[in-house]
Formats: sequence, structure tokens, C-alpha cells
Amino acid sequence: MSLPERGREHDDIIEQLETMRVDDANWRDGRTFGLVYDGGPDVHAIAEAAASMYLHENALNTLAMPSLGEIQRQVVGSMAELLHGDQAAGFMTSGGTESILMAVKSARERAREQRGIERGQIVLADSAHAAFHKGAHYFGLETIVVPVGADYRCDVDAMAGVVTDRTVLVVGSAPQYPHGVIDPIDDLAALAEEADANMHVDACMGGFVLPFMERAGEEIPPWDFRVPGVTTISLDVHKLGYAPKGASIILHRSKELRRYQTYTFDNWLGGFYASPSMQGSRSGQPMASAWAVMQRLGLDGYERLTRTTLETARTIRAGVRAIDGLTIVGEPIAQLMAITIEDGWNDRLDIFAVGDALAAKGWYLDRQHRPDSLHATVSNGNASVADQFLEDLADSVATTLDHRAGDRSTSYATLE
Ligand SMILES: Cc1ncc(COP(=O)(O)O)c(C=O)c1O
Repeated sequence: MSLPERGREHDDIIEQLETMRVDDANWRDGRTFGLVYDGGPDVHAIAEAAASMYLHENALNTLAMPSLGEIQRQVVGSMAELLHGDQAAGFMTSGGTESILMAVKSARERAREQRGIERGQIVLADSAHAAFHKGAHYFGLETIVVPVGADYRCDVDAMAGVVTDRTVLVVGSAPQYPHGVIDPIDDLAALAEEADANMHVDACMGGFVLPFMERAGEEIPPWDFRVPGVTTISLDVHKLGYAPKGASIILHRSKELRRYQTYTFDNWLGGFYASPSMQGSRSGQPMASAWAVMQRLGLDGYERLTRTTLETARTIRAGVRAIDGLTIVGEPIAQLMAITIEDGWNDRLDIFAVGDALAAKGWYLDRQHRPDSLHATVSNGNASVADQFLEDLADSVATTLDHRAGDRSTSYATLE
């Protein structure tokens, strides 16, 4: 594939893009349970208007583009307030992974400076997001992985058993991705505090859901800065914050702790280099779109979308449990879930075969293992098709009875 010899016509290029994407997962009709989170036409309109204004802007130097500094301050500040971080400070990043990388880096730096630890350890459950392993790999730390308990939440006693004087970070998720359950953050934070380690709460999925569930009067186990010992929290505006991709937030309990995240270099001929995260040049587009979406929705907008999401998730969970042979892993209370085979049915039903049948009907759910399951992150965009999904799911179960899928692979993220 080479570059065209001569530049092509605008319409011709757009037409080819339209053709190229015909096989992409169809999130617009609510048929994906993850990947894209659809806040509805008003949210799209403001996101796209802000995106086109800021498509070319660069947050590399907010002295040159102060509006992006202000956007970052407001996005970070408003969520710090909602998460009860009176002294909290942070930055916008490109996504959950970059926020987690920064939490890992911050833990490493603090332990190096205050405790003299060169090769620290991260204590985490096997449900914690893969990005923590990526961070350990990038930043030269070790991961000590502990299997989840019978309820799929972190097993605090088992994690306590592997804490050493080299532990620099303890991880909990609110909720974790694979099964959507919320880890016992208060116990984990106490563990971290005792070890003088950082405690990261991965709320990439829950950060824009749990506060609004609480505001609606629901009982949510403690998970934010009200829990002593929590040092960092990640939350993604580009997930249930309903902004386009490229926007997450990393919060530190205090500005003092935030300095372990940043990097500066002042011996370069190009001038003083100060950088909050992995990127150098930073597109203003996701930042401005995230800010605009948050302003458009406001607290009442997020309460409305959370209500719709939760009702849909509960409808789907109840519908799944009502199908003979299927059940939900653990007891998720928010928008995520894993659909699996009920005890006693494993000889007759295979969830991957069910997944293949659903895919043939145009539904997109990731496959997971231990246990084999189909992952669903429910959001506002799935509300109108929940009943259709349950009908197709029941049909897929009926048509795949006594079939086993040959392909046992799982696929959360790919290289090319
Ligand atoms: C709990 C959790 N943490 C982290 C991430 C990583 O986020 P991103 O894909 O934005 O890098 C995800 C993504 O689904 C997630 O669910």
C-alpha cells in the first residue's frame, strides 16, 4: 500500500471511509456492550461541535493555549469535588490506561524518594485491569497477583499475605472490569496505609456512575477519597462520562502527591520541558469535547443517564438469570456484568457458542475466561434494545444447545 501519486478528491476519500467501516461493530444501534458509550443526540452534537473547534489545538503548552489549561482545571476540579477530594489535584490523560500508568509511576517515585525502594511491587488481584501489568513492565516494577475470592472481589487476607517491605502500590477497582463487582476499597486502603504504600482505586468504569447512584439514594460501598489511605483514583470521561475517546482523569489525594506523577527537564536546547503524563503534544480535541459534554449534561444529565443505564443493566441481569442454563458471575451492582453458564449446564451449553450465535445476530460482546463468560458493559445506548437482546440471547441458547465452539480464544484488545 503506497501513498496515492496524486492527492485524491475529498468526496472520494469520505466515500472510501464509509465503505471501510461497514464491518465495524454497530454501536449506533446499541449493539455493542462496551467500546463506545452513547449519550444520545444532544451529547453527540455538543461533543462534535467542540471537537471541530479544538481538532487542531495542542495542550503541550497551555501558556500558548490557556483555554486548554482552564478546561483541564475545570474537568479535574469538578470531579475531584464529586469524589470528595477536598485537596485533590490531577490531570486529564488520554484514557484509562494512561491514568493507570501515571498512578503506577507515581507510586514508584514516592516509594523511591521516601522509602528508598528501587524495584517496588504492586499487589493486585487477577481481576485488576491489564494496564497495571503494562505499567509495571514500563516502569520496572513487579506485580504480585492474587486470585479473586469466591465473590470475585479482591481477597483482602490473601493480598495482606503478600504485602512486603517492597510493596509500593495496592490496587482495587470500583468496579473491576471482568465481572463488574466493587472491591473492598476500605480494607485494601487500610492495607496500603499500613505498608506506607500508595492505594489506587481504578474507577475508570465507576467514576461517572457510582457518584450518581449515590446521589439517587443507592447504597454504594465506600470507594472514593472519603476512604483514608486512597492516594490516587482514575476515572474515564470517555466511558460513562459519555465523551468521545481520548479523555480520562487521574486524581491524587493532594497536590503534594501529584508531583510524583510529573516530569520536568531543564537542560535541553529546546527549553524547559514540563510534562504531566506520557504524551508530549496533546490534542485539544478530546479535552474540549469532554469538557463540553460534562457541561451539557451537568449533574442532572448524569443522574438521568445513570438511571437509564442502571435500569437497563438490571433488566438484562434479571433476563439472563431467567434463561435456563445462564447466570451472572458474582453480584455486580452497577453497569457491568459477565454472562456465564449456570452450574449443572456445562455439559449441554457453551457460552462461547452462545456468543458466536449472538455475533451472527449482530451483537458484540467480548469473551472472557476463568470462568468462560461474555462481558457486557451496559450504558445508555443499550436501553432501547435490551428486550431484543434478551430475546436473541434466549434464542442463541436454544439453538446452540449441545454445541461447543471450537475457538476458545478471548479477545479484549488487539495489536493490529
Ligand atoms: C476498570 C477499567 N480500568 C481501566 C480500563 C482501561 O481504559 P482505557 O481503555 O481507556 O485505556 C478499563 C477499560 O475498559 C476498565 O474497564
